[in-house]
Amino acid sequence: MKKPVIAIDGYSSTGKSSISKVIAEKLGLIHLDTGALYRGVTWFALQNCLNDDGSINLDELFSSFDQIELEFKNDHGELILFLNHIDISKAIRTNEVSDNVSFVAKQKEVRDFLLQSQRSLAEKGGIIMDGRDIGTVVLPNADYKFFLTASIDERTKRRYKELITLGIEADEKQVKENLIERDKIDSEREIAPLKQAEDAVVIDNTHLTKHETIESILSHIKKI
Ligand code: DC
Repeated sequence: MKKPVIAIDGYSSTGKSSISKVIAEKLGLIHLDTGALYRGVTWFALQNCLNDDGSINLDELFSSFDQIELEFKNDHGELILFLNHIDISKAIRTNEVSDNVSFVAKQKEVRDFLLQSQRSLAEKGGIIMDGRDIGTVVLPNADYKFFLTASIDERTKRRYKELITLGIEADEKQVKENLIERDKIDSEREIAPLKQAEDAVVIDNTHLTKHETIESILSHIKKI
């Protein structure tokens, strides 16, 4: 039997990736955090495509796509992202990348560049992909779709804790501002905005633990 394709979309810091990772382990699926792809391209741009004033030069970025080799290595079901053979999993979590990623992710050229690799990874089934447009654009025919949301204060707390755990310096006020700004850009952009697919199950996990959110998702998967 073909293993399922599961789409998990939602707001930043609703736990999409860590929840998807556990579900992948439980169901024997591959997990792809698509936000990491957008962060990877942003990291590349910050290293290689800057204007004199420090802003990202989009034309330079668009003409450099052929120099960006994104590769996933399977580490016990988790796909680790390498860019031009460098493990960038930690580098893509820095504030500098977080502050610029929504600007990069709203560019049509960037979205087109990343779309095909996301789709081809799902062709064989057996994957859980988390992001913003998975249920709406990348995998509209996914077997299961979920949309996660939570209050801004709860998401700020979670993101702050995550940064501190990664050893990255953080300020709660700035973390909150960054989340609000990213939500705004992600939801208002023209192409593939962050929005709930009509057929997605919505889960507000403000008052749910990670474990409870996982159980809720699994109960829907078993029910259908
Ligand atoms: O999930 P994250 O915070 O790592 O995502 C980083 C950014 O990438 C986020 O601001 C929106 C963008 N993104 C996107 O536009 N589409 C996706 N499928 C995943 C992420």
